[in-house]
Amino acid sequence: MRRARALIGIAALALAGGGAIAQDLPARCTDLTRADAAGRFVAMLDLARPESPLDGDDLLAVVDRSPEGALAPDYRPDDLVDLTTMRPARASQCTPPARQCLRREAAHAYRELARAMRDAGHVPHVTSAFRDYRVQCSTFQRWVSRGGFCEAAQASALPGHSQHQLGTTLDLFTYAWTLGGDKFRPGFGCSEGGRWLAEHAESFGFVVPYPLHPDHRVAGSTCAAIDGDEARLDPRTGYRYEPWHLRYVGRETVARFRAAREASGPDTAAEITLDQFLRAHRGAARPVGVPVCDGCNCDRCATYAPDGPCAPPAWRLDASGHLPAPAHAPRLRSAALSRRGPELVLEARIEVAPNTATHGPIVTERSGAWYARGAREVRLASGTSRAFPAIDGAHRLAIGFGDRGDWPWHAALVGPDRDGAENGFDAPIPAAPGVLVVRVPMRGVRAGTEVRVGIAHAHDPVALAWTGAAP
Ligand code: DAL
Ligand code: ZN
Repeated sequence: MRRARALIGIAALALAGGGAIAQDLPARCTDLTRADAAGRFVAMLDLARPESPLDGDDLLAVVDRSPEGALAPDYRPDDLVDLTTMRPARASQCTPPARQCLRREAAHAYRELARAMRDAGHVPHVTSAFRDYRVQCSTFQRWVSRGGFCEAAQASALPGHSQHQLGTTLDLFTYAWTLGGDKFRPGFGCSEGGRWLAEHAESFGFVVPYPLHPDHRVAGSTCAAIDGDEARLDPRTGYRYEPWHLRYVGRETVARFRAAREASGPDTAAEITLDQFLRAHRGAARPVGVPVCDGCNCDRCATYAPDGPCAPPAWRLDASGHLPAPAHAPRLRSAALSRRGPELVLEARIEVAPNTATHGPIVTERSGAWYARGAREVRLASGTSRAFPAIDGAHRLAIGFGDRGDWPWHAALVGPDRDGAENGFDAPIPAAPGVLVVRVPMRGVRAGTEVRVGIAHAHDPVALAWTGAAP
């Protein structure tokens, strides 16, 4: 609804290089396009997408951190109701926390959920429901003032990218939890009320889109995190664990989502989230949306803007949201082998063009993945062991031994500064452009073994680039 005006403004934007949209947005939104002390900002094209194809009225709209997952700035549902009175309310009247609103169908489902919650002894407490684009600007700014731009981007959606703008999403705690003061919010998941919600919300058509990542869980629990891991980004969603954030998609969709999640491998890194299910349902090319360039982690995000804070390292998208092909495939410039204690270390220097895709494992010597002795799988820092199948379109470094002809080991084309977050899923990620040094420590490789190094692309045969003997 109400997209026509945005599209007119946007057409002007294309001509005027951003001015038209800036005029349409309040200062609290356009402030995000000004660099903070650390030089972080959001490019205007990434803040307000010229041609958002998303229909916010669709209960299954894929609203996520990716550039294509943004709603038009003036999208607002026209069937909002006040959650307390259930009377229709205009978007401008829904100003949290004074008045919380949801779309009619979601509000009715919430009332049923709330009744069941009360019957089970948990008094519901909604801290946020519908938030329009402008309110999201303020929400995001509040996070910025608390912890800086990068912190904000992990806990709060950029304007346009919040599921709260859909009018089907709410932040739901219990009074008992909220009265406890300023608590550690992820801890709500393991509170009695949080556990009840995790078990029952789906029967009312609600899903927790940002669950605790399986690699971050204490074995046997879906709410308790390995020390500190509840604060880690979930690579599937780009956000942290939010057990209070519930999105209504309806019972029928929940049933299909549950079946898909069950089939994906619950409690393993392959376990899918609601966003991944919806993306697959919509035929999205990638199972995970690469985050819009928010000024942080510039080599991990995608941008439409030619001059944003993330250009040139980030993935630069064309006007239709596609990733243009890189100018050339990665080229191995040199390789060297050395010994460090029990490890054989391969150091490869690779020339990587902008817009090259790669995928895990991200092998780092300190905290990330490394190769287990004799195993073809990669051992992660968490202690779990995983394989990383080839991915369409993605390049990686490949290593093989002797004349066996296979390439059992591979590594992503990123440096050790990329922590292990991206190792949690099987999806393409932006490679690091420029001349990249990848160091791969390996155990159990005997002196004299012939080591082959090549560049692998998707499922194609590996292009051999170098051979050497293990010292
Ligand atoms: N906290 C979630 C990510 C939002 O802002 O929508
Ligand atoms: Zn929320």
